[in-house]
Amino acid sequence: MPLPGGDVTEGVVRVGNTVRRPLGPHSPLVHAVLRHLEHRGFDGAPRFLGIDEQGRETLTFIPGEVANRPHPDWLADESRLVSLARLVRRLDDAMLGFAPSSDMLQAVAAPEIPGMPPAPAEEPEFIGHMDITPENVVFRGGQAIAIIDFDLAKPATRVDEVFNLCMWWAPFAPDEDRSEPLKGVDAVVRTRLIADAYGLDQEACQRLIPTALRRSERSWYLMKYRAEHDGGGWLRMWEDGAGERIQRRIAWLEKEGERLAKGLGL
Ligand SMILES: Nc1ncnc2c1ncn2[C@@H]1O[C@H](COP(=O)(O)OP(=O)(O)OP(=O)(O)O)[C@@H](O)[C@H]1O
Ligand SMILES: [Mg+2]
Repeated sequence: MPLPGGDVTEGVVRVGNTVRRPLGPHSPLVHAVLRHLEHRGFDGAPRFLGIDEQGRETLTFIPGEVANRPHPDWLADESRLVSLARLVRRLDDAMLGFAPSSDMLQAVAAPEIPGMPPAPAEEPEFIGHMDITPENVVFRGGQAIAIIDFDLAKPATRVDEVFNLCMWWAPFAPDEDRSEPLKGVDAVVRTRLIADAYGLDQEACQRLIPTALRRSERSWYLMKYRAEHDGGGWLRMWEDGAGERIQRRIAWLEKEGERLAKGLGL
C-alpha cells in the first residue's frame, strides 16, 4: 500500500506491519541511529529490520495518527505540542553516546556553498533528527509517541533541534505559509511551550533566534544547490517556491524576534 508521500522520498510503501523505503547515501547513518535507539530501549522510533529482497530498508510500521495533508485541526493542540517536545528531548538524550563512523558522517555532510554564511560556531552535541515535520510524527491518544523518517538526521546541537521543532510547530512562518490549522496561532506562546517542555536552558534559549536566522539563511543556499545538483523532489520544492518561503521566514523572524525573545523570558 503506497503511503502518503512527503516531498523527497518517492516509493515509500507499507507492507503488512512494515514500511519499505528506498536507500540513499544517508542510509548507513540512519540504520546505525535506529539500531542505537533500539539498543538504548528508546520506544519512539521505528525499528530497522534489515534490507528486503528489492534492496529497500524495512522498518516497523507504527500505528497511530499522522498529520498528512490536508493537515487536521488537531495540529494546533497545545497538549500535543508539549508531548512532542518532551518526546524530542527523550530522543536527543537517547542519542547521546552514539558515535557514528566518519564515513557515515561524510555521506550526510552538507556542502559549503559560495556566499553561504558560516554555521553557528557551537560543536554538535549528538545526531539530531532535524526534520520534525507534522508528517513525521505519530500520535496516539492525543500524545506524540514516535518520530519517523530519519533521512535528514545529522550532527546537531539542542538549539538546532529545537529550532527545527519550532520552525514546523510554532511555526516560524507568516500566516500565508502556514497550513490552515496553524494560521493565527501565537508562535510566541508555542515557542515558550516547546522550550519549556524540551527543557532548553536559558543560555541555549538565547541562541535560538540567532540560530534560526543563520540556519534559515544557510538553508536557502543549500536548497538552491540541491535543486540544481540533485534535481528530483528538491527541484520540485524549489520550483514550488521553497526559496521564497525561506526568505519570508527570515523576514518573519526579524519582525518577531523581539517578541519571541520576550516570550522566552530573555
Ligand atoms: N514507520 C512508520 N510508521 C507509521 N507510518 C509511517 C512510517 N513510515 C512512514 N509512515 C507514513 O508514511 C508517510 C511517508 O513516510 P516517510 O516520512 O518515511 O517518507 P517521506 O516523507 O516520503 O520522506 P521525506 O520526508 O524524506 O520526503 C509518513 O508521513 C507516514 O504517514
Ligand atoms: Mg516524511
